[in-house]
Amino acid sequence: MSTDSIVRIASLKDVSRFQSHVKSLGVEIPCDQEILIGPDSPLRQSLTRGPFTIGNHIAIHPMEGWDGTPDGSPSDHTIRRWQRFGRSGAKLIWGGEAVAVRHEGRANPNQLLAAPHTKKHLAHLREVLIREHIATTGSANGLLIGLQLTHSGRYCRPNSSGRAEPRILYRHPILCRRLGLPDDYPLLTDSEIESIIEDFHRAAVMAHELGYDFVDVKHCHGYLGHEFLSAHTREGRYGGSFENRTRFLREIVAGIRSLAPGLHIGVRLSAFDTIPYHRDPNGKPIGIAESNPDLAPYRWGFGVNRHDPTQPDLAEPIEFLSLLETLGIHLVNITAGSPYYNPHVQRPAIFPPSDGYLPPEDPLVGVARQMDATRQLKKKFPNLLLVGTGYTYLQDYLPHVAQAAVRDGWTDFVGLGRVVLSYPEILWHATEGANLQRKLVCRTFSDCTTAPRKGLPSGCYPLDDYYKDSPEAEKLKILKQG
Ligand SMILES: Cc1cc2nc3c(=O)[nH]c(=O)nc-3n(C[C@H](O)[C@H](O)[C@H](O)COP(=O)(O)O)c2cc1C
Repeated sequence: MSTDSIVRIASLKDVSRFQSHVKSLGVEIPCDQEILIGPDSPLRQSLTRGPFTIGNHIAIHPMEGWDGTPDGSPSDHTIRRWQRFGRSGAKLIWGGEAVAVRHEGRANPNQLLAAPHTKKHLAHLREVLIREHIATTGSANGLLIGLQLTHSGRYCRPNSSGRAEPRILYRHPILCRRLGLPDDYPLLTDSEIESIIEDFHRAAVMAHELGYDFVDVKHCHGYLGHEFLSAHTREGRYGGSFENRTRFLREIVAGIRSLAPGLHIGVRLSAFDTIPYHRDPNGKPIGIAESNPDLAPYRWGFGVNRHDPTQPDLAEPIEFLSLLETLGIHLVNITAGSPYYNPHVQRPAIFPPSDGYLPPEDPLVGVARQMDATRQLKKKFPNLLLVGTGYTYLQDYLPHVAQAAVRDGWTDFVGLGRVVLSYPEILWHATEGANLQRKLVCRTFSDCTTAPRKGLPSGCYPLDDYYKDSPEAEKLKILKQG
């Protein structure tokens, strides 16, 4: 499939045409004709479950900006982004952005860090967010704010955006080759893992002291927590059996419960995955799955069908959600895949970032895949609070789909990712009855990923004047031409 043959969402003139287009693709995406307003909107109603009362069904996903200072503190760009998270009107702020629990675990030299010297800055981010949130919604009632804690594992680049410094749990036959790692590249030892677990404890205690309502123990997108779940071939306490592969999570949770009682815990999970994709070396650079008969059955994924690793398998993710329930974790954010090796699965887009490939499917198929997985999990776990992901590509019809998905019980919360960079208030405006500002609707140009891949801060360069008019925009233009 090439970009030219994909029907542009902006070219579909009304909801009926969008609905027929979805149907023609043979996928199911619920979509309402009319947007309900104010308290009539399913998106605006508050939700009480267990210890939580959350003021509406709108969530903001964690969105990092590659724009912190070298010591891991926020910059003015970061502060502005968190203000805009608040301005969205969403009552569930899922993590803000990835915050590394130690320097060597940072995904880039500009990632935020949870450390004593950044403490007051992490407090400030929360405060500015709340202030803006009150300006939009009138009050902070029912607002739940988390901090996403992470170690980037295989994708650590703490010291220079040009230098990978991977910390890996096992040898992955495709990903180790892509990173150029020799066969004797060191694996994280069990005692190094124990010390990373202690970092998570320290960071969670800090988040609690700062007034964050929960921490997200990140298990997605190929980073360390997610890599544990696929560590089938690792030996020892942290690999092999399901019990061993979830020991990292259980030990982090046990420590947080004893050191920061009262702090809630959430988990962002790549609930399914596929074998890594790459550009087709022949012809157009469309994404194709790396196929290799030596890799069957496939033992290096989580939520992947071993016999056809291009397909999801939710059996283990279901077991994982049962474990979360047993551990008293009720907040779960469902995402998929990884931005590094199957971006079309993780964030459906029509235009690839600089390190991506042309979409191998209509991006709406990717949206439907994530929505369907969340629906299946929601059915099995009615008591969990699930956040759905992958809605940005719906563009002008995001509000129609979001309303239907929440009303029909496909998800508890609709999470906003890329669109929050260009148009944070999209669902707030829609449910106020205001016309959408179409010029702010994200069209998935992927500059928010291309910019950081080229060493620049992330942001919406095409649509947000703050970035459009910045010196970085000029640099990005030149780098893209190069
Ligand atoms: C620029 C950028 C930054 C992101 N930062 C994070 C992050 O810090 N933590 C995380 O879990 N996901 C992160 N993501 C993934 C998004 O939260 C989300 O899963 C993805 O964009 C798909 O949702 P969407 O279709 O609404 O964009 C990021 C994505 C982008 C494009």
